Amino acid sequence: MTLSIRPTDPVSRPFFAGEVSGVDITQPLSREQVAAISAGMDQYGLLVFHDQRFSDETQLAFSRNFGALETATGDIAQGSERRLSMDVNDISNLDKNNQLLARDDRRRLFGLGNRLWHSDSSFKAVPAKYSLLSARRIPSAGGNTEFADMRAAYDALDAETKAECEHLICEHSQLFSRAILGFSDFTDDERRRFAPVQQRLVRRHPATGRKSLFLASHAGAILGWPVPEARAFLRDLTEHATQRCFVYAHVWAPCDLVMWDNRVTMHRARPFDNTEVRDMHRTTVACEMSTMEQAA
Ligand SMILES: [Fe+2]
Repeated sequence: MTLSIRPTDPVSRPFFAGEVSGVDITQPLSREQVAAISAGMDQYGLLVFHDQRFSDETQLAFSRNFGALETATGDIAQGSERRLSMDVNDISNLDKNNQLLARDDRRRLFGLGNRLWHSDSSFKAVPAKYSLLSARRIPSAGGNTEFADMRAAYDALDAETKAECEHLICEHSQLFSRAILGFSDFTDDERRRFAPVQQRLVRRHPATGRKSLFLASHAGAILGWPVPEARAFLRDLTEHATQRCFVYAHVWAPCDLVMWDNRVTMHRARPFDNTEVRDMHRTTVACEMSTMEQAA
């Protein structure tokens, strides 16, 4: 088997979303294989691997090839409420007994925030580098994940808007993204844990040098701007960045693993029938530093 990567959609988006074949990533990898996958991530920003039968242990082992992992402190289910370990983000509609969450369960309602465009953990001071999402059980229809290429979106801005964005600093919090959906059912502890953090709006990829817009529904303020003006500006940028020409929609098959670079993409989940199980396990590689430390 030889590892190869080709574009998922060579006609319309030749440099966004690569499909990897010729490698079993549930097994230990050689240095050359890890280097090839890292290079593919730099080029594409998003890689799809099919038919990878992961356990949480093998998924964690594969993920650690790419850096230190985050823990799931952004999840609303903590402690004895958790179904999965703190090393794995639970992207499912299940409780700890593997039963479907009720329609009005606050964990499910909080999880609906995933339907808004976002970059994982932009609400943490040191945000996510890679997310690795493994499809364990999928519904019979719907539940796609859509990805937007924030490098292409940045490149397509006019010079005036690029200049306006260049030095802006945003505040990100899960309190902001959930407020968009009318969810405000937070405990005092959650309000403390989800206090806003600062992120640069424009960031530069350390390997490729390409600039991208660092947007997310978690962004609810721009330093020095009136809040309504900031939110209108961020909404316009998000609308620009998520035009269909910048978007790849992943239609899941069981045992797919999709790995994306949160520094250069946004994503969102699409709806599905909540009487069916959707069970996805996410491991997350952290950035090495905050966007505030990293020169834009
Ligand atoms: Fe996400």
